[in-house]
Amino acid sequence: MRILVGITGASGSPYALSFLKLLKQKGVSVEVIVSEAAKKVFSLETGKDLEILSELSERLYHEDEIAAPPASGSALYHAMVIIPCTMGTLAAVAQGLAKNLITRAADVMLKERKPLVLVVRETPFNLIHLKNMVAATEAGAIIYPAMPAFYHRPQNLTEMVDFFAARLAEFLGLQIEELKRWRGLG
Ligand SMILES: Cc1cc2nc3c(=O)[nH]c(=O)nc-3n(C[C@H](O)[C@H](O)[C@H](O)COP(=O)(O)O)c2cc1C
Repeated sequence: MRILVGITGASGSPYALSFLKLLKQKGVSVEVIVSEAAKKVFSLETGKDLEILSELSERLYHEDEIAAPPASGSALYHAMVIIPCTMGTLAAVAQGLAKNLITRAADVMLKERKPLVLVVRETPFNLIHLKNMVAATEAGAIIYPAMPAFYHRPQNLTEMVDFFAARLAEFLGLQIEELKRWRGLG
């Protein structure tokens, strides 16, 4: 499996980090595109510099590398995940504004009818956000909001974030044996 990961400047960079670590552990081939805003938010929220994104991926692209492979449908990715996904990037994807490598690659995934997962993060939503989520869904994207679960009783933030990342990986078709599953009450 080859996965393309876009990281934008929404709060929630730890989700991206956890997801990339899990994909690497599972031997998945990953390429990453990072937006300018994400560079700032990622460092702020994770305390790590971008070097770690290079270590966790086969290639790291910057949003202005518009001629890079992800800009073309001939590049073979099974799925693209934008994690976290800002309302700005959601809007661009929903309206087909392929102005940087992330939004162009997302546009390509939609035209090639391949899975595009948007881990949107904002609260509260305004009507524009909600309409853009509908438009993106109608175009074939999957809105996968950064909404953590609590039924597995996370003991700390790391467990909460890792659970979200593991569920996302399973959503893409990977098998995560270590995932705590709901087994019913009692
Ligand atoms: C600390 C920080 C947190 C942010 N969190 C969010 C967020 O959760 N959702 C969002 O849509 N934008 C958020 N933003 C704003 C985006 O970073 C900003 O709109 C940016 O232009 C998005 O660009 P991009 O989509 O190319 O990454 C945040 C900005 C900062 C500095």
